[in-house]
Amino acid sequence: MRPVPSYAVPKSIAEVARLLVEHPMADAVVEEIDGRRIQVDGHWLIDFASCNYLGLDLDLEVIAQVPAYLARWGTHPSWARGIASSEPYRRVEAAVSELLGVEDVLAFPTLTHTHNGVLPALAGEGTVLVDHRAHRTIQDAAVLASARGAAVRRFRSGDVEHARRLLQGPLKGPRVLCLDGINSMTGNAPDLPAFAALAREHDAILYLDDAHGFGVVGERDGYDPTPYGRRGNAIVRWFGESYDQIVLTAGFSKAYSSLLAFATCSPELKRYLKAVVPSYVYSGPVPVAALATALAGLEVNQRRGDDLRALLWQRTRTLLEHLDKLGIVTTNTSGLPLVELALADPADLDAVGHHLFDRGIYVTLAPYPVVPRQEAGFRIQLTAAHTADQVDHLLDVLREVDDRFGFRRPHP
Ligand SMILES: Cc1ncc(COP(=O)(O)O)c(C=O)c1O
Repeated sequence: MRPVPSYAVPKSIAEVARLLVEHPMADAVVEEIDGRRIQVDGHWLIDFASCNYLGLDLDLEVIAQVPAYLARWGTHPSWARGIASSEPYRRVEAAVSELLGVEDVLAFPTLTHTHNGVLPALAGEGTVLVDHRAHRTIQDAAVLASARGAAVRRFRSGDVEHARRLLQGPLKGPRVLCLDGINSMTGNAPDLPAFAALAREHDAILYLDDAHGFGVVGERDGYDPTPYGRRGNAIVRWFGESYDQIVLTAGFSKAYSSLLAFATCSPELKRYLKAVVPSYVYSGPVPVAALATALAGLEVNQRRGDDLRALLWQRTRTLLEHLDKLGIVTTNTSGLPLVELALADPADLDAVGHHLFDRGIYVTLAPYPVVPRQEAGFRIQLTAAHTADQVDHLLDVLREVDDRFGFRRPHP
């Protein structure tokens, strides 16, 4: 018999693996929730690691819609979409198309399924150009595209001129330029007008992942109550751009607290994707309860989404103003509810994580090399379901962390 392979974590990532797996502030089992509080290992903590930006995971109107769907459709039909889709799928695709102002969308269970399916299908044996800090799921989909015959090139993050130089070279077509919409760490947007113009000049497709923008940012008219704009119809509308040469992907697992994702498409592209994308033809469907919460969430968004975004902005603004007063650097210049804080000394992250945990705050740790060394620290997400008192407690604890360990300050 062959020996069982050993799965020891490689030495090079042992420290980060320890933080990401063994630290109480990671890989937690949540025993109970109460609003935006969670119980981990018997401790009650305020959850600032959830991306449920609109707070719909706790919304009684959304929750109340689920039983009727289960009674009518059962829990899970188990058809791959290539075989059959329950009717709510058609409604959700139509509602998302209307909200975004696009011809059509094709829905998948997750963005990972969307990227793995759609990106290789768009690229064929052409070229994928990827922002080198695009989300890991896009990077992995690019690897899959490469296994199917595409060339993959990476450009410096956010660097339009670098992407232009690559596009000017002799690259096989079709060409697909991939980047994040609202960035999952910084909370900032790329220069979308410049990237969209570049894609159009070079007859490339601009492929965007707006997991964190969908439901938060949307169309603007100059009289908007918050920096987020209105309707939460994602980054392309936020910039007032057209969808010409753009494939926008986004999902419901953040702002909408559900499980569903989509790629925008023309009816012709949709027919092609349905025929060639393995995660459409062979993967299982979105569970019925998730279709129900996606549809209910879209209804809530239509009626009170802008009120929820106003609350979200209030909570976020309180935090950003506090950081500004303390002179603490965050990469967030957009006012969006993702706030990344870097420590003065990245080696303090373990101890800082323990301090936060002991003081009842749960966040996302961001160690090096998950982020560049100078950005090592943690990420905070605000949601419309946080109370003002919960945010005030966060501010107190951040002041303690600053006094005891120190956050990174701007260079003098
Ligand atoms: C920017 C971004 N893209 C994709 C994903 C993956 O989404 P899903 O869970 O729908 O596969 C995430 C999840 O955290 C994300 O932040």
